[in-house]
Amino acid sequence: MWLGTQCVNAQGHLEIGSCDAVALAEQFGTPLYVLDEEALRARCREYRATFAALKQDVTIIYAGKAALNRAICQIIAEEGLELDVASGGELYTALQAGFPRERIHLHGVYKTDDELRMALEAGIGAIVLDNFEEIARLRALAHAHNRTVPVLIRIAPEVEADTHPLIRTGQRDSKFGFHWLNGDALLATEQVLNAPELHLKGFHCHIGSQISDLSAFQAAAHAMVAFAAAVRQQLGYTAPLLNLGGGLAARYTPDDQLPSIQAYAETLVQALRTACQQHNFPEPALAVEPGRSLIAEAGITLYRVGAVKRVPHDHPHLPREYLIVDGGISDNPRPQLYSARYTARHVSRASAPHDRPYRIMGKHCETDPIIDCALLPETRAGDLIAILTTGAYAYSMSSNYNRYPRPAMVAVRAGTARLIVVRETYEDVIRHDQ
Ligand code: LLP
Repeated sequence: MWLGTQCVNAQGHLEIGSCDAVALAEQFGTPLYVLDEEALRARCREYRATFAALKQDVTIIYAGKAALNRAICQIIAEEGLELDVASGGELYTALQAGFPRERIHLHGVYKTDDELRMALEAGIGAIVLDNFEEIARLRALAHAHNRTVPVLIRIAPEVEADTHPLIRTGQRDSKFGFHWLNGDALLATEQVLNAPELHLKGFHCHIGSQISDLSAFQAAAHAMVAFAAAVRQQLGYTAPLLNLGGGLAARYTPDDQLPSIQAYAETLVQALRTACQQHNFPEPALAVEPGRSLIAEAGITLYRVGAVKRVPHDHPHLPREYLIVDGGISDNPRPQLYSARYTARHVSRASAPHDRPYRIMGKHCETDPIIDCALLPETRAGDLIAILTTGAYAYSMSSNYNRYPRPAMVAVRAGTARLIVVRETYEDVIRHDQ
């Protein structure tokens, strides 16, 4: 499984962005996040071109929670995408990177007054409203600042996507958005339409993440158009925009069955058109908010193996040879949180047959498998391994657990490696201790 610009070079080493991964590890140390800049840019272009060929008025908004730093903001801005930020910290990052303000959208189930004020003062493109308290607080702030704020209203479309329960967000018991069944969504729309401080741009939904069954997106599109049509009938407001969120799956293992961006785009646009015809609703502009499917496959993590252990367990499905590497839960908590699966590659013997089963364990003070059964060539202490598809929700969910400093991140492209996030130091780890 090779992704983006990954390949094997003449030395038999893993190469990414035309950079030798052994050399990257030597120059920048391990663990190391490596971002394949060309792969990320190509994916941005593919998203834009695919949707543009099907529908004229589509906006692609990168969901920054997947991975955000100033360099990534700049890449996303250069590729002409908009940006979804989910917190004051993400907004601050975008503003510091000079991301065009009118292309920023603020999300969140509890945006504090400080976060709302920051968004308001920056004059961002839209705030996506999530609850009644927020409508009241934003109105008061907008009033005090004498501003009219562009907003969308987040709706829970009651679609249960087939994914890990912790990353499902549009189902009936979801904490996100306004529900239609209990009347909240309609009431929120009425409140916003009657608020002179708010300008309603349309409706938003997001049903979850790592979704490969396109019928869930189809169902969400239908639910959103049905809701917009009900609003039109009952309140006389015709939504000019529907943002259907992100959620398309990325490839983590060779046996992942994934729809293409083409199939995803066709499904969304077709569902939108069919639903609009059924409800006699004028076709609105469309926005999508991919995070993972834009950046996950562009990232890898390089680790160095510190020990190889033969463990005398009798579990039939787990390898008995364990590799202990110099990272784990603090740089990628996804295996623990969601039982996420990954693929490993031996870095210096990348073209050797990967047929020997290993359990790859992190170095933290708990049982923290990174991959339960990874296939690699014979691997020894000191060897480098790469975990693929760590571009999304790895650095962004990292921690200082066990007081490990966070790794560095380099962006590689056309044979050049650019340090975009420096490695934390022990000084950084104690920086806030009093
Ligand atoms: N829009 C909204 C409002 C979202 O909440 C999310 C993700 C996205 C877009 C982007 O979804 P994506 O295209 O990346 O699936 N930490 C979890 C994933 C949480 C996703 C949260 N929301 C994980 O590591 O799997």
